Amino acid sequence: MPIAFTDQSLQHCNTLGLPAQALVAVLDDEAAIPGLCQERGVPIFILGGGSNVVMQSHVQHRVLRVALRGIRLWQETADHWIVEAAAGESWHGFVTHCLDQGWPGLENLALIPGTVGAAPVQNIGAYGLELDQRLHSVVAWDLQAGQERTLLPSDCGFAYRDSVFKRAGAGRWLIVRVRFALPKTWLPRLDYPDLRDHPSLLGAAPMPRRIYEAVCDVRRRKLPDPAVLGNAGSFFKNPVVDAARAVALTQRFPDLRHYPQADGRVKLAAGWLIEQAGWKGRRLGPVGMHERQALVLVNHGGAQAADVQALAQAVRQSVRERFGVDLEQEPVVLD
Ligand code: EPU
Repeated sequence: MPIAFTDQSLQHCNTLGLPAQALVAVLDDEAAIPGLCQERGVPIFILGGGSNVVMQSHVQHRVLRVALRGIRLWQETADHWIVEAAAGESWHGFVTHCLDQGWPGLENLALIPGTVGAAPVQNIGAYGLELDQRLHSVVAWDLQAGQERTLLPSDCGFAYRDSVFKRAGAGRWLIVRVRFALPKTWLPRLDYPDLRDHPSLLGAAPMPRRIYEAVCDVRRRKLPDPAVLGNAGSFFKNPVVDAARAVALTQRFPDLRHYPQADGRVKLAAGWLIEQAGWKGRRLGPVGMHERQALVLVNHGGAQAADVQALAQAVRQSVRERFGVDLEQEPVVLD
């Protein structure tokens, strides 16, 4: 049976809560994918949890909501559990399930909104761990070639908040399952100061469950819950500048939050830049930058995509004027 797209509202399918109308279909069976590959015409946008997207009111793309489910221990080697999850599983649910089964290793990535299938697209990362450090492989359909492929991490073009699925491969790859290699010799990842200094971890053995709970606690304190206040997490990437530029900036702004990278370049904290530019807790129409984390753009109610883009542009301009740094938007635009 060919998959049917029908006109639907997507307002409850994006965490910013923007009103949007599109032709939508739900994919809950892998058997329907070959039929999709044969369809030509209006391009398809693949939607997971809608937590990293700015939706226009009238979406031209056809939208495929991925609802494939299932989690299993795919393989066990001497050193690793290889766990496979279907793309439509909730990311946080998957992290919790792995911990319950005694397969730790993803706890630093607890409570990130969205689905398993979306996780490799932006190479999710938080509290000292990036997805590519735990990824085994991605099973995806190449919709252009009409065949299923298994991609290794080296095929995925991972970088900070980036992958081949987000760039050239957008609209080409339909991720159906993702496999993670979780080391049997578990080591805590406590590089991130807020985590290392968390009261529940001080003086205690850093067990996976404790780290999981500390990460959830830090996130709940810093970041707004999209179910309460619409948002798409960090709205901009942390900009990376060359070393000479970073030196010049720290001379002018001694408090600048900056992190040297392995390649010699320096990552700047966009939240700090935005706060210093005067946008923390400030509103423009129905949207604003969050009062506890200036990097998060929030919908105070009734916003449309145009309101979001107006604020994003105003923030970028302020940061450019004050620091000479360009901010790059993180969520993708669905038009
Ligand atoms: N800061 C400010 N003012 C602010 C926000 C931050 O001065 O309003 C300063 C903080 O004091 C800190 C620095 O900026 O010194 C970094 O802030 P934070 O630790 O909150 O992390 P971030 O760089 O703003 C990144 C990710 C988050 C992730 C955290 C923790 C990006 C774009 N964002 O934020 O990811 O949770 O690190 O690892 O890389 C997300 O993508 O939605 C997300 C929340």
